[in-house]
Amino acid sequence: MPIRTEETGARGEVRLRVWNLPLRLFHWGLAASFVTAWLTLDDRYRDIHVFAGYVMAGLLLFRLLWGVIGGPYARFRDFAFGWREARDYLKLVLQRCPPRFLGHNPAGSWAIYLLLGLGLLIAITGLLTLGGEERHGPLAGWLSFAQGEMAHNLHELLAWSMLGLVAVHIAGVVVESLLHRENLVAAMLTGRKPSKPGMVSARAGRPTGILMSVAIAAFGLSWFHGYLVETPERPYRPFSGIELPDQALWREECGACHLAFHPSLLPARSWRTMMAGQSSHFGEDLFLERDSADEIERFLLENAAEQALTEAAWKINRSIAATETPLRITETPYWVDKHKEIPGRVWEDPRVNGKVNCASCHLDADAGTFEDAAMRIPVDTGGALKGLWEAMTSRFRLDSSHAGIFNPKG
Ligand code: HEC
Ligand code: HEC
Repeated sequence: MPIRTEETGARGEVRLRVWNLPLRLFHWGLAASFVTAWLTLDDRYRDIHVFAGYVMAGLLLFRLLWGVIGGPYARFRDFAFGWREARDYLKLVLQRCPPRFLGHNPAGSWAIYLLLGLGLLIAITGLLTLGGEERHGPLAGWLSFAQGEMAHNLHELLAWSMLGLVAVHIAGVVVESLLHRENLVAAMLTGRKPSKPGMVSARAGRPTGILMSVAIAAFGLSWFHGYLVETPERPYRPFSGIELPDQALWREECGACHLAFHPSLLPARSWRTMMAGQSSHFGEDLFLERDSADEIERFLLENAAEQALTEAAWKINRSIAATETPLRITETPYWVDKHKEIPGRVWEDPRVNGKVNCASCHLDADAGTFEDAAMRIPVDTGGALKGLWEAMTSRFRLDSSHAGIFNPKG
């Protein structure tokens, strides 16, 4: 049987426990992970974004369980109000005399069910995006890049919906706090609300709360451990990325003057044209022997962008019109789009040294993977918030003293 959560008449002065520790941890943990996820939309903070997503998913799964075994006020059956009850409640809100509920009120409970549902869908589409587009996470390789992109679009739509709903939820909290002259935010912090004797108290749930805190802390530590084991060769979180095909001859010949640009960064027709004109390669003569040139060309064609070995390959190839044969990666529409927000002075900075010097910002440029986690700009790009972020994350990320080893070879 659900308990009675509606309190009638004047408010009593007993400080009754309504939100137990696990529920409060869930609430503020969910809010924190949601905010963190919004703050880390930039590709460069993708792994923090994913971490926030995992925390959010874990908290939501816990909430489903807690909705069954969590005791009074936390149990779903204690706030299983119908649509009609929610509507009637809202009408009374408009008349400024809604009844007071110790637990969730009928309208609030609808917001909560929707938030839980949206949160779970966001977690699922996030995992699908991660597995499809980035080839990471438990669903890595289950989906094509195209399916991953579809999940990505849905993920964004759901996130915006949830943001809207959060705004509605906060507005509801403010309105109800005003109408009942009580601080509902404080109640979610202390767990207690003034009440008359005789109402049911929530269970303390302290062991569960402590267990939850330890689990979240341990998960967080194990995740960030990835940053702490950085080495000069791989100063970013070693995400278990794909290993791309390699060839020693190509590395030696095509890496002599600049980074050996991975074949997956241009379509086959571009490589064919480039190799046919090897005696006038951007003003240089490559002087390649016939055999070597053939062997390199074979490697380039076999692993060209059409093979969609990486997200970058798939997107670069898709961005090029069928009638175009770009000889520069830096002139492909996808590349231009991804770098259009980088200010001109960054390219001229000696720490970057030009657009072709991919490795000064992409720590895995040599491998050709262009992982989100391996991206960073070694120049301050301004903006107070961004600066703060840079300062906060530099503890875990590379400082410019590492940049030397990635400078151009020729
Ligand atoms: C003798 C030096 C030299 C060698 C060897 C060389 N390149 Fe280049 N490459 C250049 C120069 C110079 C540029 C133009 C760089 C610039 O614009 O700053 C260039 C540019 C490129 C670009 C365009 C980069 C962009 O997106 O703007 C590609 C792709 C490329 N080279 C591929 C190759 C391949 C493949 C090989 C091996 C077959 C190779 N290069 C070997 C000198 C060389
Ligand atoms: C000045 C630093 C800088 C240089 C140099 C640079 N990039 Fe980037 N690149 C970035 C940043 C920053 C992003 C992320 C943009 C964003 O947030 O969407 C990015 C994004 C990308 C992406 C998309 C990755 C993804 O998963 O979304 C690819 C692919 C890429 N760069 C390839 C290259 C290649 C190839 C070169 C060299 C020809 C290069 N970049 C040179 C800074 C740089």
